[in-house]
Amino acid sequence: MIIPGSAEMKSQLEAAFDLEPSLALAKETRHLHERCDRVIPDADWARHAPYIVAINKLKKEKDAVILAHNYMTPDIFHGVADIVGDSLQLAIEATKVKESTIIQGGVHFMAETSKILSPEKTVLIPDSRAGCSLAESITAADIAKMREANPGAPVVSYVNTTAEVKAASDICCTSSNAVQIIDSMDSDIVIMTPDGHLAQNVAKQTKKKIVYWEGACEVHIEFKADELREYRKYEPDAVIIAHPECPTDVVDEADFSGSTSGMINFVRENQPEKVLLITECSMGSNIADEVPEVNFLGPCNLCPHMQRITLEKILWSLHTGTEEVTVDPDLAEKARLAVQRMIDVKI
Ligand code: 13P
Ligand code: SF4
Repeated sequence: MIIPGSAEMKSQLEAAFDLEPSLALAKETRHLHERCDRVIPDADWARHAPYIVAINKLKKEKDAVILAHNYMTPDIFHGVADIVGDSLQLAIEATKVKESTIIQGGVHFMAETSKILSPEKTVLIPDSRAGCSLAESITAADIAKMREANPGAPVVSYVNTTAEVKAASDICCTSSNAVQIIDSMDSDIVIMTPDGHLAQNVAKQTKKKIVYWEGACEVHIEFKADELREYRKYEPDAVIIAHPECPTDVVDEADFSGSTSGMINFVRENQPEKVLLITECSMGSNIADEVPEVNFLGPCNLCPHMQRITLEKILWSLHTGTEEVTVDPDLAEKARLAVQRMIDVKI
């Protein structure tokens, strides 16, 4: 198999498509560039444009749709994505799209979730090595041990988990509905996996007792409350917005915490003059042009898994129909129950 991103992949793509930087194609795709002018210089757009044109043409020919997470880079987010959103929105959209093929602009657990919800569709991920430290932190056997230690307590698992872990759980949640999902459980004690930080942040907003797994997002765990206090000293009027995968003392320092789409909507609606988006770096880049009056101050961290998805790998994926995501049908059926129960909770 040709490895996505390898020299072999690049040379095969160059043989099949004209991928030379092109000012003419940059002009042709000006309407897309306008959405991210502030963060992608003209010269870079001329480099992206041949990929964007080829991908958008192939998508139609192959009856494919691109679902892209809010952490995708702006060239993907604004150039080729058909649907963008947070984990919950992408899971819901996966059940609605008409196209026969879904290309997942995101990490492996997201592509698996799409496959679980749309087993009849072909789901492709441009690089299956795009993992997640949370999904890798727990197995179905770990869930069984937690159930044994907490008899009768339901298991709520974050969507950032493998199909096997979802299948072993009672219901899923995302960062945008975690409090409501926990509150909807018919039990005073709830097991929450795998994100210990999300669980502790949720615990502050519910009366339920939460027993949690100690998993962590390798990106959000890097943010420190001290660092934010330091920023406040120099930028007292800056608004701090943190993702709930951050440690609790970081979220406590923030003015708002929410899912990736929750964070975007907060910026859209409030248009603060200065903002710190305490999350993955692409978030600020993706909305910078929509809110020209807003200044995005540091810090931000890159997710190495999300960064594996690039325009050239998306083109390769569409061109070759790789890498197909499969889930054992019995496992998928059990996992689907947990995801569907989450979607069905009225919020
Ligand atoms: P959201 O559900 O907020 O999009 O988060 C997904 C994720 O992986 C954040 O790190
Ligand atoms: Fe996983 Fe964190 Fe990357 Fe999201 S940002 S995909 S939780 S490692």
